[in-house]
Amino acid sequence: MLYLGIETSCDETACALVEDGRKLISGRLISQTEVHKAFGGVVPEVAARRHLEVFNGLLNEMFEEACLKLSLPLRGDNENGLLAQIGAVACTNGPGLIGTLLVGLAGAKTLAWALEKPLLAVDHIQAHVCANYIDSDLEPPFVALVVSGGHTQIMHFSSYKEFAVLGQTLDDASGEAYDKVARLLGLGYPGGPAIDKLAATGNPRAYNFPEGRVEGLNFSFSGLKTAVMRTMENHSGVLNTADVAASFQDAVNRVLFKKTVNCARELGLNRIVLAGGVAANSDLRRRFSELSEAGTYRVYRPPLSLCTDNAAMVASAAFFSGVPAPLSIGAYSRGA
Ligand code: KG4
Ligand code: ZN
Repeated sequence: MLYLGIETSCDETACALVEDGRKLISGRLISQTEVHKAFGGVVPEVAARRHLEVFNGLLNEMFEEACLKLSLPLRGDNENGLLAQIGAVACTNGPGLIGTLLVGLAGAKTLAWALEKPLLAVDHIQAHVCANYIDSDLEPPFVALVVSGGHTQIMHFSSYKEFAVLGQTLDDASGEAYDKVARLLGLGYPGGPAIDKLAATGNPRAYNFPEGRVEGLNFSFSGLKTAVMRTMENHSGVLNTADVAASFQDAVNRVLFKKTVNCARELGLNRIVLAGGVAANSDLRRRFSELSEAGTYRVYRPPLSLCTDNAAMVASAAFFSGVPAPLSIGAYSRGA
């Protein structure tokens, strides 16, 4: 069964067709990074307009690619057309920017109505986790570390449909911390990939930045950001920005790694899943790879293209845990 996924929660317009939640048949994505770079961050109104401009073209390209791959005509009779093979239309309806979410949601509603398929509304955070089902044998139960521009959470997935948030950030999200520190270092937007690159040439032990002392499985990154700011204000001589980037990255990843592994150990689970844009970070991936190689834990992480926002994860989430939604469903900006 093919599920059509649509994602427009921030600055990526994406659509994808996924078979049985695991196999990506066809996917298209346009990132607006270049558009927002000049503003130093995502401008919601600009993002929504851009989604509108590219949405239809992107869908057409995705359908064309799927027809070629599956040797199916787009239309055709009930058994022979690609559209007949689609089981549901899935779309992210939050959390995210309301204006951008509504573009994807309007498109999804229109398609669901026109094709007479169920509409499935998908939570963006859950979808990030489900990126790990694509091309993999992952099954619950597992512990998930979700690290994105807007969220930092440790979750326990006890089944495909049941999950609990066991810890989260009390202030900035980890991706937000990357973006803010990158701005301080003059690295521009988006900050995560820039810090990742610069940190590779720096010394992670040059500065002893605080991890953010919060009890249990919660996180705090605002103190770390302030510590980086103080260091930059108070230094004498030439500041080695690569050392600052490496030390900052080390402080973030150290605490993310430690708390996730603690959680898995306490729950007696040996499967750990990474998800979200910050899961693309090479130092974080290396830490978890080494853990996986040590043998006790099996670590799953999406390929880089499925760490950041995409539509394949939306289709996968809908397949495994989607709930049919009325065509009147709205979008929401923040998680529960
Ligand atoms: O999941 P995502 O694409 O969008 C949200 O749902 O927020 O995550 C975007 C975030 C941004 O903060 C970006 O700086 C961060 O992920 N990011 C990274 C890397 N690539 C993207 N952070 C650290 N290292 C990276 N390589
Ligand atoms: Zn995201």
